[in-house]
Amino acid sequence: PPGAHDDIAALIRTIPDHPKPGILFRDVTTLLLDPRGLAMVTARLAGLVPAGIDLIAGIEARGFIFGAALAHHLGKGLVLIRKDGKLPGATIGIDYALEYGTDRIEMHEDACVPGQTVLLVDDLIATGGTAQAAVRLLRQAGARVAGAAFVVDLPDLGGAEALRADGVPVTSLVGFP
Ligand code: PRP
Ligand code: HPA
Repeated sequence: PPGAHDDIAALIRTIPDHPKPGILFRDVTTLLLDPRGLAMVTARLAGLVPAGIDLIAGIEARGFIFGAALAHHLGKGLVLIRKDGKLPGATIGIDYALEYGTDRIEMHEDACVPGQTVLLVDDLIATGGTAQAAVRLLRQAGARVAGAAFVVDLPDLGGAEALRADGVPVTSLVGFP
């Protein structure tokens, strides 16, 4: 359960006032610097994967690192969910609201076969806006989203709750209040 994995939590650095005053930024670069950090996280995420997954989907940029490691560990393929304009093939995209303005994520329209079961992976869920957009995108591509797994949850921001309300089971390794 979130909070139980103190070895992982202890490797995540907190940087006050990034990117703005008042924000406590949970920084996974220190976890990645540890020689055992990525292996620990991958093994723990693997223990939370629902049965019957066909594919992992990772969200740019830090979600690619954990998503790729988990896909490799499980012997599954990896779908890249990218920021606007990066993917070379025919794409589908979703615009979603940020605190100020909007952002857009995209995936290749043929990245999953309709009916395939996908696990979404990212480093962190805060408001959940990014993950909710990724779920809409995967569903538009015909995927069944069997779950979403995060290294870090910031439960006070309500993202995991919002994602569950969208019908997605959510798991995480560490919760920071
Ligand atoms: C961060 C994080 C998640 C998202 C979480 O990514 O890696 O993808 O924000 O926030 P939310 O739950 O409020 O949507 P960021 O936008 O910093 O992109 P990056 O990984 O490319 O740096
Ligand atoms: N850390 C990393 N990414 C984030 C955070 C954070 O604290 N909040 C929103 N995105």
